Amino acid sequence: MPELLDVSAVLGLLAMVTLTLNVVMGIMLSTAYKTHPWWKKLPSKCREIKLLTLHNWTAYIALVLIILHPLLLVADANTTFSLRHIFVPLSAPKQPVFVMLGSLAALAFIIVIITTQKMIKRAMGFRLWKNVHLISYLTSLLFIVHGLIMDPLLKDRPTDWFDGEKLLCELCLLVLVLATAWRMWWQRRPYGVS
Ligand code: HEM
Ligand code: HEM
Repeated sequence: MPELLDVSAVLGLLAMVTLTLNVVMGIMLSTAYKTHPWWKKLPSKCREIKLLTLHNWTAYIALVLIILHPLLLVADANTTFSLRHIFVPLSAPKQPVFVMLGSLAALAFIIVIITTQKMIKRAMGFRLWKNVHLISYLTSLLFIVHGLIMDPLLKDRPTDWFDGEKLLCELCLLVLVLATAWRMWWQRRPYGVS
């Protein structure tokens, strides 16, 4: 029977992958993806996918994972984590600075979700909403560093960079760096290039 701590680690990894995909989809939405030659070459079944709906769904799937990940940690009787450590992470019994990065990522994520609720988004106007939405790039950095450095066994072990779980963190980092670089290129692209 897996311990709750192991399940918590798996949910943390799933949250990271879901958020990474969410950022990639957000970047596609912001860069007129339908006009891109690569998109046009995809089979028609793929092109029928409503990316905004998917981006919305993955955000809520990530929300559930991000809530359950620390809660299972608290529920595991073998750890000394309590609810207080989620909200006051610097008092956490293990790796407090890196737990704090996880808590900040969760907070930034929740702000993005709240500001995307229809009524609030309308009241904010597109520009302000979008500026708040851009926090997601910082959120990505926070959860990647958190995921890379946290020891899933809570034994303060240094990161094993070739461990399967940490390789997954590194893959997400690579995808995020490439997608962000593409986003920046698109913003500055010469007029008429798509
Ligand atoms: C709550 C549901 C969400 C909805 C309905 C939503 C909607 C959108 C929309 C409409 C865009 C395109 C904006 C444009 O026209 O330029 C966008 C972009 C984006 N979204 Fe979301 N979003 C949601 C949640 C999230 C979350 C949780 C994240 C973080 C992981 C995220 C990350 C992004 C990113 C990185 C962009 C690209 C921003 C840019 O560089 O211009 N979104 N989102
Ligand atoms: C955006 C939110 C978060 C994401 C994406 C995330 C992701 C991750 C990842 C990928 C790991 C590494 C798992 C492994 O190497 O097997 C991890 C570990 C950990 N995280 Fe988070 N985390 C988030 C929020 C939080 C919060 C709010 C806490 C607060 C207590 C937290 C506490 C921990 C702890 C203690 C570990 C090590 C033990 C374990 O693996 O369960 N995380 N997290």
